[in-house]
Amino acid sequence: MKRSALRVALVCAIAAMGVARAWAEPATPPAADQCLTCHLDQDSPEAIAYKTDVHAARGVSCADCHGGDPRSDDQDVAMSKARGYIGVPRKDQIPRLCGRCHGPGTEAFKARFKLDDVLTDFGGSVHGHALESNPGGPQCVSCHGVHSIARVTDPRSPVHPSHVIETCAHCHSNAAYMRDFDPALPVDQRDKYLTSIHGKRHAAGDIKVATCVSCHSNHLVLQVKDPRSPVYPTHVPGTCAKCHADARYMAGYGIPTTQYDDYRQSVHGKALLQKSDLNAPACNSCHGNHGAAPPGASSVIAVCGQCHQSNEDLYEQSAHRGAFAEKKLPGCMVCHGNHAVRAASDKLVSFDAPAPCAKCHRNDGTDTSAPEIVRMRGLLDSLTVGQTATLAVLSHAENLGMDVTDARYSLKDVNQSVVQSRVAIHSFKVRKLEEAARPGIAIIAQANRAGEEAVHEYKFRRQGLAVSTLIVTFLVVLLWLKIRQIERRQQGEKS
Ligand code: HEC
Ligand code: HEC
Ligand code: HEC
Ligand code: HEC
Ligand code: HEC
Ligand code: HEC
Ligand code: HEC
Ligand code: HEC
Ligand code: HEC
Ligand code: HEC
Ligand code: HEC
Repeated sequence: MKRSALRVALVCAIAAMGVARAWAEPATPPAADQCLTCHLDQDSPEAIAYKTDVHAARGVSCADCHGGDPRSDDQDVAMSKARGYIGVPRKDQIPRLCGRCHGPGTEAFKARFKLDDVLTDFGGSVHGHALESNPGGPQCVSCHGVHSIARVTDPRSPVHPSHVIETCAHCHSNAAYMRDFDPALPVDQRDKYLTSIHGKRHAAGDIKVATCVSCHSNHLVLQVKDPRSPVYPTHVPGTCAKCHADARYMAGYGIPTTQYDDYRQSVHGKALLQKSDLNAPACNSCHGNHGAAPPGASSVIAVCGQCHQSNEDLYEQSAHRGAFAEKKLPGCMVCHGNHAVRAASDKLVSFDAPAPCAKCHRNDGTDTSAPEIVRMRGLLDSLTVGQTATLAVLSHAENLGMDVTDARYSLKDVNQSVVQSRVAIHSFKVRKLEEAARPGIAIIAQANRAGEEAVHEYKFRRQGLAVSTLIVTFLVVLLWLKIRQIERRQQGEKS
């Protein structure tokens, strides 16, 4: 009896404990997120996907985005407005929703996980503005997906470098979609990209090459005409240089990393980067925006010819054109380089290195083109050296007090000839160069003559002055003698 009484007491105690546990249950926080639990029971695709979401791993609940009470297993309670349930957010509200933790505020999550302020950049971007005007515009979920959001370094993420081309192209290659926003915006970026060296290597699995994001950034995507954009002309060289001037990053590709330094010091680089001259080429003017590839020997001429049309036209008809093409030499680049293009100078026409002609031409009697080259340099010198010499003569005349304004003024027109000659030289025909140089040389000759005549006249006037002084003195003496004579005669008459 003693034993059985003990057994009953034990059973009762256990039963009482069980009851107590059952009663105590609602008072303690749920072991699991009831939203997730019930939705998993319902085989909801969102809940299944969410198991792999970076947010789930960090304890973010369905309710942190959708609101509601995650402690209740009663659908009507959990998903009630009274408990803060907001339902499925409208698309144009999504950035603000994500921005509760990825925005400028100091929500608990933001503080705990040191989350960046992504919302401010997005809000200021062309995408953010598009969303303001059209709820179908881009928002966080268009690029990151939802319920299976992965870290951006995770190859599952749609913005991982291996997938980002397709993610951006999802809209940017969709003409019908883009028409609603900006019908003039091209939709060929991906197609062109696939033809570039970047795109070809990317397709082969290389994720170190430039993707849409390396050139346009991720959240603060701006219109290309916005001066803050990384692809605004003055910023393009720096954007490309992030990789192409980084020897460590580019190691293993076996291409030089000097393009940016060379370019910066070139006429083009100085004009664009120092003088903000948007007519000067940036990297993409020669390489294309999305189809970035070296132009290749055969198309260099066309690349430079976009802006230097006359030079191209003349070069196309020159003897060099055929001779260079045969040897696969890259046209303009042979004499001017590509990234380090310097200001043109008459010194380029010479038989002495580093003048480019020296690479192929000799002035030793064996080269039939040599006499023409000598004559060409002579014509160029007649213009430049001739102009300097004439200016010296005119200054001399001015110092002597002679008026040579007209002659000095006429020299202004010589520059036109200089400019035309420097273009005409691309025919590599003496006759063409002569045609361009002749008017300038004629003006120089005339101004020179005017200067020399002025100096001559000055000398003549000086001689004239001496003679007239002599004559005047002679006349004065004569007059004095005459007066004396008259005076003497008058004195004689008086006495
Ligand atoms: C007991 C089960 C249960 C719980 C708990 C529950 N849900 Fe649901 N939920 C459902 C079912 C079933 C549906 C689909 C049918 C419907 O819309 O009523 C649904 C639909 C939804 C939808 C889609 C609504 C729409 O308009 O398309 C969202 C969002 C959602 N639940 C979020 C939550 C969140 C957040 C919680 C936790 C705070 C939660 N649910 C808790 C069962 C549940
Ligand atoms: C990080 C924020 C976030 C979390 C966490 C989250 N959701 Fe969502 N959910 C969204 C957004 C944003 C949308 C709207 C997506 C859209 O419109 O493309 C959405 C849409 C939905 C929809 C509607 C889908 C449809 O096609 O209409 C359901 C259902 C849903 N969520 C359920 C859940 C459930 C269940 C959980 C938890 C397992 C959850 N969500 C967790 C942000 C979240
Ligand atoms: C146009 C596409 C796009 C949109 C829209 C977009 N993102 Fe991103 N996001 C990216 C890309 C691309 C990266 C990764 C960049 C990289 O490779 O470093 C990224 C990175 C992130 C990161 C991780 C890096 C960090 O800075 O913390 C977070 C978090 C993030 N995005 C959240 C958001 C949120 C929140 C929104 C909406 C307000 C949003 N994104 C809108 C493309 C986008
Ligand atoms: C309740 C807070 C909260 C909300 C709301 C929220 N996130 Fe997050 N998010 C986090 C936390 C916490 C992490 C994990 C940070 C960590 O571990 O470094 C995270 C991580 C991310 C990452 C991965 C960043 C990386 O390191 O690569 C992305 C992308 C992201 N969130 C996008 C979104 C998007 C898109 C939304 C809206 C649909 C959103 N988040 C809403 C809290 C939130
Ligand atoms: C190597 C750098 C680079 C890459 C990679 C790149 N872009 Fe561009 N993108 C540019 C430049 C440079 C411009 C034009 C600037 C200009 O017109 O002056 C541009 C222009 C644009 C424009 C404006 C319309 C146009 O075509 O001129 C859009 C849209 C665009 N890019 C989207 C993309 C998308 C989407 C991708 C990925 C498929 C991408 N870009 C890849 C550099 C790049
Ligand atoms: C959900 C669709 C969508 C996605 C995804 C998207 N974009 Fe856009 N993008 C747009 C829309 C819409 C515009 C705005 C067009 C307008 O109103 O001018 C735009 C504009 C741009 C512009 C400005 C073009 C100009 O000069 O006017 C650039 C650059 C750009 N996006 C790059 C990107 C890049 C890079 C990605 C991928 C990381 C991307 N976009 C992903 C829809 C998208
Ligand atoms: C994210 C890094 C990155 C950025 C930014 C970048 N590139 Fe590249 N680029 C590469 C890599 C890596 C290669 C592959 C090199 C190779 O295969 O020779 C490459 C190849 C090239 C090539 C072909 C070189 C050759 O002959 O093989 C050209 C031309 C080029 N890039 C131009 C540009 C221009 C112009 C820009 C800016 C508008 C730019 N790149 C921006 C990384 C980058
Ligand atoms: C005035 C036109 C022009 C500009 C501006 C220009 N490039 Fe080039 N680039 C060329 C030509 C021409 C080639 C060589 C083509 C060949 O050899 O077939 C070339 C070759 C290259 C190559 C292949 C490797 C090499 O050096 O031969 C890369 C990479 C490159 N450029 C990147 C750039 C970057 C980055 C910038 C801007 C900082 C830039 N380029 C500016 C015309 C230009
Ligand atoms: C996008 C237009 C553009 C392209 C493409 C371009 N240039 Fe230029 N180039 C200019 C401009 C503008 C200047 C004047 C810069 C200045 O202010 O000095 C210039 C100056 C020059 C000069 C110096 C002219 C002088 O008066 O001394 C030479 C030489 C030259 N470019 C050669 C080339 C070659 C070779 C190429 C191709 C590899 C090329 N350019 C491609 C626009 C361009
Ligand atoms: C065989 C050598 C050679 C080749 C090839 C060549 N140039 Fe020249 N370039 C010269 C010489 C020489 C000058 C004039 C130097 C002077 O007297 O100042 C010059 C001057 C120039 C100038 C400055 C004068 C002006 O027109 O403003 C530009 C620009 C120029 N070249 C562009 C080009 C372009 C574009 C190509 C290709 C279509 C090209 N060059 C091909 C030798 C060459
Ligand atoms: C890469 C080698 C190369 C360089 C550099 C070069 N030339 Fe030539 N040049 C040739 C060849 C080859 C011919 C002969 C073409 C023919 O007769 O078919 C030629 C022919 C000429 C001719 C005769 C044209 C004619 O119509 O008969 C002149 C003039 C000339 N070059 C001037 C120059 C000048 C000036 C320079 C420097 C600014 C220069 N060349 C640089 C290879 C070169």
